Amino acid sequence: MEIGRPDFDTPQSIKKAAIRALQEGKVHYTANAGIQELKESISRKLAVENQFSVDPEKGVVITIGCKEAILDTMLAYINLGDEVLVPDPSWLEYQNIVKLAGGVPVPVALREEEEFLLNPDDVRECVTSKTKMLIVNSPQNPTGAVLPKSYLQALAEIANAFDLIVLSDEIYEKLIYDDAKHVCFASLPGMAERTIVINGFSKAYAMDGWRLGYAAGEEHLIQPILKVHQYNTSCSTSFAQYGAVSAYEGSQESVRAMVNAFDQRRKLIISRLQQMDGVHCVVPKGAFYVFPSFKSLGMSSKELAIALLEQAHIACVPGEAFGNQGQGYLRMAYSASYDQLEQAMDRLAHFLQKYR
Ligand SMILES: Cc1ncc(COP(=O)(O)O)c(C=O)c1O
Repeated sequence: MEIGRPDFDTPQSIKKAAIRALQEGKVHYTANAGIQELKESISRKLAVENQFSVDPEKGVVITIGCKEAILDTMLAYINLGDEVLVPDPSWLEYQNIVKLAGGVPVPVALREEEEFLLNPDDVRECVTSKTKMLIVNSPQNPTGAVLPKSYLQALAEIANAFDLIVLSDEIYEKLIYDDAKHVCFASLPGMAERTIVINGFSKAYAMDGWRLGYAAGEEHLIQPILKVHQYNTSCSTSFAQYGAVSAYEGSQESVRAMVNAFDQRRKLIISRLQQMDGVHCVVPKGAFYVFPSFKSLGMSSKELAIALLEQAHIACVPGEAFGNQGQGYLRMAYSASYDQLEQAMDRLAHFLQKYR
């Protein structure tokens, strides 16, 4: 339960498109920003699903996973000493990539009692004259929190007031449950001119090993990222890009089936965790993680994760790996089969009996 990746296979139609590209000899460097077909497909997807219009020629850079898109963005925009507001807890990479670019990550605490939603008042308090960028990630890793539109609007006002660039990582947008709705940050009024949308194929299409993501936005925001990308990797893998076209253009049935399966597992884990003494779990509305609190056990989350691994053979990630606010929590990915998760919950319940 520790790795943040789907346990499903990439849908056959996507694999076939990549195989076809290989057989047709599409094995050479592509244009730096990516193949025309995929840039157009991404632009269409953003317009239809996210109400965000980008120019396929100048507003999209296809990268080696979201990770490269985030690194390129930081290298393009963050100068020595610039501050970047990073939710805490959040995907560990953000703060380290900010540091790699010479910037200073400034953690903004997420609180369990606020369902781990990024509180706009807290964001405002962390802004200084050096703040250059705000990172928004919804649905979120590691908490599964999905920011409601009202929160995003309040964050947009802050971005406007303090002239911040917003990096909106929307990789989990399609993994969303109950009544939660994904809102693309760039679609909010006035935000297109300051938002870089990061998205990719790793999660919803089970293509994490293909290493394909993108940065999208207005030309003036994306072209500096293209410069970094060009010297970083030249281009993303040619045949993988053809596979990705089929991911966006083909049937979305496999995505629906995967989300359905994740939802069943999510419900199983939540109901089991909620029955365990001393465990508290906010109901996550997105991604494929739960982030329960084990604070009542009085151990560090790292000690707990090691004990669970050694004694119950359950692997999960200590919350502190995602920032100081993660102390006392564990991130459990439900990217394992329903049966395996049932077994894991049985073992966890048994393990916890020792600590009563
Ligand atoms: C919040 C978030 N963004 C991006 C990624 C990585 O995406 P990619 O595989 O496209 O680099 C992850 C992977 O775990 C993630 O959790």
